[in-house]
Amino acid sequence: MNLPVKRSHWGNRWTFMLATAGSAIGLGNIWKLPYMIGVNGGSAFVLVFILCILLVGIPLMMTEILLGRRAQKNPYNGMQALAAEANVSRSWKYLGGMGMVTGLLILGFYSVIGGWVLSYIYYAAIGTFAGIEGPQSIANFNALLASPVTLLFWHTVFMLLTMGVVARGVNSGLEKANNILIPALFMILLVLLGYSLSEGDMHLAVQFMFNPDFGKITPAVVLTALGHAFFSLSLGMGAVMVYGSYLQRHISIARTTIYIAIADTMLGLLVGLAIYALVFANHLPAAAGPGLIFQTLPIAFGHMPGGHFIGTLFFMLVAFAAWSSSISLVEPAIAWIVENKAMKRTTAALLIGISVWLLGIAVLLSFNEWKEIKIISGLNIFETLDKLTSTILLPLGGLFMAIFAGYFMKKNHSQEELNLHRNGYDLWRFTNNIVAPIAIFAVFLYLFGVMK
Ligand code: TRP
Repeated sequence: MNLPVKRSHWGNRWTFMLATAGSAIGLGNIWKLPYMIGVNGGSAFVLVFILCILLVGIPLMMTEILLGRRAQKNPYNGMQALAAEANVSRSWKYLGGMGMVTGLLILGFYSVIGGWVLSYIYYAAIGTFAGIEGPQSIANFNALLASPVTLLFWHTVFMLLTMGVVARGVNSGLEKANNILIPALFMILLVLLGYSLSEGDMHLAVQFMFNPDFGKITPAVVLTALGHAFFSLSLGMGAVMVYGSYLQRHISIARTTIYIAIADTMLGLLVGLAIYALVFANHLPAAAGPGLIFQTLPIAFGHMPGGHFIGTLFFMLVAFAAWSSSISLVEPAIAWIVENKAMKRTTAALLIGISVWLLGIAVLLSFNEWKEIKIISGLNIFETLDKLTSTILLPLGGLFMAIFAGYFMKKNHSQEELNLHRNGYDLWRFTNNIVAPIAIFAVFLYLFGVMK
């Protein structure tokens, strides 16, 4: 079936916003940001992360949406079409191709962590957390990691959920569910924050996260923070570009971007506060790594009134947030297959789903059987995929998109898409053309050992 593809459009601005926010808000905010703050020196990381969101994330999100809306296609064909319009080399399509692969690599580990969250819904529901203390909570989490079969089961469930929706297409109704579930996630977070305020050590948490300690800002911290700004806003691989291609013409890209960036960043920081208040009150290690939220949150749910119900609901909402993010990781690849190959959406989803599922098996084994298998510079499979995508592939994708939109695309075309007043447009142009590329480039120089 190789019919010209009719593109569906989002119902209105809110659905686009919620779908894009649904892509942005996910494990990156709830699972990854909190533990990275702990591993990378607390407030130093938070400060650089916020700067990266403001100076690089927001302008590049605008760039990615504008490229998508102008192209009206998947990233690969989209970049090709935009290059044709700008009258430059069609090789820009490989940028779209790189993004699609990046998304699948991310999903390879995202789905495994999504599986951890699913398993925690189950544990919360059966009452595992009742009255639990730190050491027991840590032991529970370690037991999960030590069981490849359990991990495989939940990873498989997560992949089925993701590919099930992807097989049905972007108007499947999931974005409507975002309407209720994202606000619900914020609400339940407030409950958690309330608990942390009364029972945790919020004073220490605030100090840990916000008392600037400039001495701890190292190039490695900047690199990780920049990578996470991309990860958290879903930038640099074409996910936002695909969503932008479904965005109606009259909607303001700048305003939408700012709302999403604020919601996304706030959510992550609030989770961080709730968690570190618990970490300090329970004398748990701040630099626990990827298991952090799974080790700390059960303590809160195990002790708060109604915690059985609230904990179950919390992990359900997190799973949902992860689910609406994971869809955007595969959507570019699926859209590419459907728009280019004579293949049905369902077949494409099956094919891609199986490949990513296999990759996920390697990832979950790297938490137990294959823990000692190192891929590059002492990193195991999970760590390699994570570092490779967040600190190299996403910023690289973003860098090229910025260069394309800023230096190759005709100025009146970007102006037309952004539809901003003079100052706003100039500000975007300055950050997109100069600030963001320099920041990314400098970080790469460090990464490849040119700069120390
Ligand atoms: N931003 C999501 C999160 O924070 C993850 C994600 C979804 C993503 N789509 C993406 C990251 C595309 C990078 C690129 O959990």
